[in-house]
Formats: sequence, C-alpha cells, structure tokens
Amino acid sequence: MASTLCLVLLVLCSLSMAQGQVKVFNLRASDLPSNLLATTDGYVKVFYNLSALGKTSIRKNDKNPWWEEEFIYINALENYNLTLKVYDNDVVFDDLLGVCQRKIKQGTHQHDCFLEKGGTLHYSYTLG
Ligand SMILES: *[C@@H]1O[C@H](CO)[C@@H](O)[C@H](O)[C@H]1NC(C)=O
Ligand SMILES: *[C@@H]1O[C@H](CO)[C@@H](O)[C@H](O)[C@H]1NC(C)=O
Repeated sequence: MASTLCLVLLVLCSLSMAQGQVKVFNLRASDLPSNLLATTDGYVKVFYNLSALGKTSIRKNDKNPWWEEEFIYINALENYNLTLKVYDNDVVFDDLLGVCQRKIKQGTHQHDCFLEKGGTLHYSYTLG
C-alpha cells in the first residue's frame, strides 16, 4: 500500500516538474493565396495535444494579416504537439490553407511555417 502511494507521488512529482504554461502569440501570415474571385479572409485555429485552445478573429481581405490574440494552456508538457491550422473564411466552406505542427520545447521560440496552399505563417510560443 505504502509503496503504491510512493509510486503515485513519484509520477505526480515528475509530471509536475516537466509541466509548464505554453503561450502562443505574435501570429501573422504573409502572402496568403487568394482565389480568382474571393478575397483572402484568414484566421488561425490553435491546438495543444488535440485540445482546441481557440481561434483568432477573421482578418478580412488581407493577404498579410496579423492577429493580436494569444493562446494559453496551463499544464503543457514538453514534446507534445502544438498545432496551428490556417483557414480562409468563405461563404460556402472554409478553405484549409495549411497545418503547422511541432513538438513544443522549453523556452521561447519563433517559427515560420510554409503553408501547403501558399503563404507563410509566423508565430511564437513560450513554454515554461
Ligand atoms: C493528450 O491528449 C490525449 C487524448 O485526448 C489525452 O488522453 C492525454 O491525457 C493528453 N495529454 C496531455 C499531456 O495533455
Ligand atoms: C504529434 O503528432 C504526430 C503527428 O501527427 C503524432 O504521430 C504524435 O503521436 C503526436 N505526439 C503526441 C505526443 O501527441
């Protein structure tokens, strides 16, 4: 019984040591593609390990948008996935422009991610 408790506490302790807050910020994009007729109305959805942290506002008719929203997950673990999905808002359906996924690491990092359908997403995150 006592040894089980020890084991549980050990696991909890090592979990909490590797845990931290992840903050995603400074989201912007450049050269987002536009359809022939439609404008580019970009927004970004942010996920940590499959849980949705939220999405930015839609920047209408802007191929080089930036977003002021920040996204926070309190008990984030190193090496879990941070995923950002960039969409173009449309009347009929929203077009997925690209997915940016990487394993988070301690510290502050800035990344440029090339989107499958064109353009680049720039973002920063801090874990710790
Ligand atoms: C990651 O997501 C899976 C599936 O939803 C969940 O079971 C797991 O506890 C999550 N892990 C962390 C560290 O958030
Ligand atoms: C991160 O994403 C990759 C690719 O989708 C997946 O194979 C991997 O299991 C994910 N890692 C975690 C810790 O969820």
